[in-house]
Amino acid sequence: MQKILVDGGAVLHGEVRVSGAKNAVLPILCATLLADGPVTIRNVPRLHDVRTTIRVLAELGARVGDEGDGVVTVDPSTVHSHVAPYELVKTMRASVLVLGPLLAKFGHAEVSLPGGCAIGSRPVDLHIKGMQSLGAEISVENGFIKARAERLRGARHVFDIVSVGATENVLMAATLAEGRTVLENAAMEPEIVDLAECLIAMGARIEGQGTGRIVVHGVERLHAAQHSVVADRIEAGTFLIAAAMTGGRVTVTHARPDTMDAVLDKLKAAGAELDCDGDRITLDMQGRRPRAVDITTAPHPGFPTDMQAQFMALNCIADGVSVMNETIFENRFMHVNELLRLGADIRIDGHTAVVRGVQKLSGAPVMATDLRASASLILAGLVAHGATTIDRIYHLDRGYENIEGKLSALGADIRRID
Ligand code: UD1
Repeated sequence: MQKILVDGGAVLHGEVRVSGAKNAVLPILCATLLADGPVTIRNVPRLHDVRTTIRVLAELGARVGDEGDGVVTVDPSTVHSHVAPYELVKTMRASVLVLGPLLAKFGHAEVSLPGGCAIGSRPVDLHIKGMQSLGAEISVENGFIKARAERLRGARHVFDIVSVGATENVLMAATLAEGRTVLENAAMEPEIVDLAECLIAMGARIEGQGTGRIVVHGVERLHAAQHSVVADRIEAGTFLIAAAMTGGRVTVTHARPDTMDAVLDKLKAAGAELDCDGDRITLDMQGRRPRAVDITTAPHPGFPTDMQAQFMALNCIADGVSVMNETIFENRFMHVNELLRLGADIRIDGHTAVVRGVQKLSGAPVMATDLRASASLILAGLVAHGATTIDRIYHLDRGYENIEGKLSALGADIRRID
């Protein structure tokens, strides 16, 4: 199995290009099922989760063409199956996002329940309730969500709690429903805005994306379209943290700083100088040690749970003590035990971690437990004395495009080994 080997100590300098957002491209690929003609998506990152989603679409009968250079075209006109099997859904929870499109377009969908996940129980009840509000009949049998509706009907639906995936699934379904749908307590993530923009390019009538109240006027059909995926704010944030931890100066390009306020504010609080110029963000640490910063994760525009592990790596070597609260997922501190192996000083009490910054970490073999945890271990390895090897990096390949190549171009001593 492949591992990542990092030799710590390099100060990062230079420019790095941000890829398209994983969490935007996955729902967008699923949304193509709603169209009558081919949908071309640009700025598609090369990620394992993208390949899995493409396999799901192909399994349903869609024709998917990878034209290279981040351009993928999905022609859904050949879809003949409405079943997303367990073998695919269990490897990637986001496959559940075909539920809304299949149900709205074909009146019928069977999607395997995704099952457990390392970072928490992650149920899909909110997705199901949303579809029921639009008039779908839903049963859960033999491990499958079975959904049926001759035509969905627009309705007002209030999400019990803010959920990114449930908002996306119900939004997609509502585009082809009869009449007007109002989604209250909707998630406001930039990836939802990007999905809405792709749906609008396909002919959907949507207002309020990016706010807690999304209004959809259902249309009869959606058509062929083109869309370019929004920049990955989590990848961009990860590189900026790497620069801050190593005391370097890095510019991320092709980024969307306007989607990153919470993370940029925390980097400033850590003592980084930041300059945003169009789609470029430059972080200059001028060799200083970062200051410890308290973090509480929250739905957008709050601090993203997907950056918590990486910021914890920074707090591990920062000057001072920080309190980090994880409010979104119940089991998202699995990187802590691995960071302890590198010499970090962290104490966990329920959903709270107290991190005492240490002067130095020391390299050790560690194991990745989930996607963002893998990134935090790489970040810690970048500043640790000696070699850190990170095992189980398939988690990393789900969501970061060539992270070792991008970091080594910035001067890091990092490579993939067998
Ligand atoms: C998405 C992101 C993930 C990110 C998360 C929170 C994608 C592909 N993944 O995941 O990277 O960490 O948002 O920003 O975009 N919940 C329920 N019932 C449901 C659905 C969710 O109780 O039916 C709960 C979850 O357990 C969690 C909370 O709602 O505690 C938020 O989860 P949600 O926003 O749905 O996360 P995902 O869409 O799965």
